[in-house]
Parts: sequence; structure tokens; C-alpha cells
Amino acid sequence: MLGVFDSGFGGLTILKDLAKALPNYDFVYLGDNARAPYGNRSFESIYRYTLEAVDYLFSLGCPLVILACNTASAKALRTIQQNDLSKIAPQNRVLGIIRPIAEEVGKFTKSGYVGILGTEGTVASQSYLLEIAKFWQNLHVEQQACPMLVPLVENNLINHPATEMFVKEYTQKILEREPRIDSLVLGCTHYPLLQEVFVKVLPKSVKITSQGGVIVQKTIEYLANHPEIDNRISKNSGKNGKIRFLTTDSAEFFKKGAETFWHTQVQVESVNLLPNAR
Ligand code: DGL
Repeated sequence: MLGVFDSGFGGLTILKDLAKALPNYDFVYLGDNARAPYGNRSFESIYRYTLEAVDYLFSLGCPLVILACNTASAKALRTIQQNDLSKIAPQNRVLGIIRPIAEEVGKFTKSGYVGILGTEGTVASQSYLLEIAKFWQNLHVEQQACPMLVPLVENNLINHPATEMFVKEYTQKILEREPRIDSLVLGCTHYPLLQEVFVKVLPKSVKITSQGGVIVQKTIEYLANHPEIDNRISKNSGKNGKIRFLTTDSAEFFKKGAETFWHTQVQVESVNLLPNAR
């Protein structure tokens, strides 16, 4: 089984692309809906919550967990990889979704000016700036926090005029600061659901990149380069194409919200991540 984690529903946009590209793999999705959104929480909380989730997915037998959440990737991934993995499961792996974008982002721009849209937590962490600088030294990167977009999506207000108003405001702000931007990365897993709104308000000269395609490509590459992990995923699951949905909130709550992101009915289990509650 391949584990996919998000603070709530947003990671379902990534899971959808992964499940389509890897139809024979089993997935288990965990949304920490009871504690979402993570966007404006402290480093300590996001790190602790993410570590609990990763540990839980490991306990189910996932040798690889993808943090399908920019905020968790920005604030918790590095510490988990560097400090915790060797103690809790040295042979397992955790990957995030910021580095894969950083590796590719230079290919999406002709002008050399890129914009990143994300939650307050992702933007404040500067993770995109730091990671992109490792691969593209001459690229100019401008960031914009879009704090209203996650609550609007979570409340199913995708087609509400307020959503268009905020998308317009955030994109205008970043383009006013740097008009040479020709590529905008949707650096939050909720934002692909607003793709049409972004297309409507942005000038034609600005291309939008969602993360799903890049994450799929990088995951496939990772599995090919790490046969020991790939073999353990098959061993633990049988690669049957099954998806398990878990949430820290109630199953009913998840089922209702997931309709916006998944479009078909899902079977959901409610779980408690704390080790002594398992
Ligand atoms: N899924 C998170 C991300 O990609 C956003 C939701 C949240 O703030 O928890 O950044």
C-alpha cells in the first residue's frame, strides 16, 4: 500500500492523479480533517500532527508515504526525514510535494519569472524559494499567500462570486509586484479545484501549473529507482488498485466533503492517530 496524507480533503486531488496513473497499486488516504486546516498553524503543531499521521500510515504497512499537502511538506517533511525516520521506521520513506515542483519549475517559464500561490504556512516557510534555488539559480520567484481559498473550497463555494473576487485579488497582487511572471504554480492541493476560476481571471500570457502531473511523474520515477520500496509496496498490498479512505473526523463528515473532490461515493473509516488509541 502507498500512503497518501493531507491535512484534510485537498490531497484527494493528488491521489486522483496518482491512482489514475498507477491503477494497479493500492492506496490508503488519510485526511486529518479533525485538525484541518493546517495553513495558519504553528510549525510545532503541523510537525507533530504530520508525524502522528506518518507513523499511523507506517503502522498500517505503508513503506512509502507521500505528504500530499504543501503545508505539511513545507513545515514537517525535513524534520521527519532527518530526525524521526531513523527512529520510527528506518527502512520506510516519506516524500513531499514541494521538491518535485522545484525540480521542474524552470521548464514552465519562458520569462524566467515564476509565481507561487499557497497557504500562509507554505509561503512563510519559504520552502519553495529555498528548494527552487537549489535547481534554478537564475529563476525569479515571487510568492503570494491566499488564505481565503482553502476555506472557500472546503465550504463548497467554488462557484460563488466571493471565490472569483479573492482569486482575482491574490493574482492581481502578485502580478502587480512582478508583471514579468508567465507561470503560476498552484502550491496548495485545494487550488486545482479552482482551475477554471484562475483561467478566467488570469491574462492568457500566464500559464497555470497544478501539482498532480508532476507528482505522478516523480512518483513513477521514484518507484523505478527504488525497487526495494516498490517491492515492499507490492508485498504489503498485492497491487490490486484498491483505495482505503481514512479520516480523523467522522466518516460522515469526510464522505460529504469528499464529494467535491472525488465525485463518487467513497467508503470511509474514522481513525484515532494516537498510538495508545490504536
Ligand atoms: N492541503 C494544504 C496544502 O496543500 C492546504 C490545506 C490546509 O491549510 O490544511 O497546503
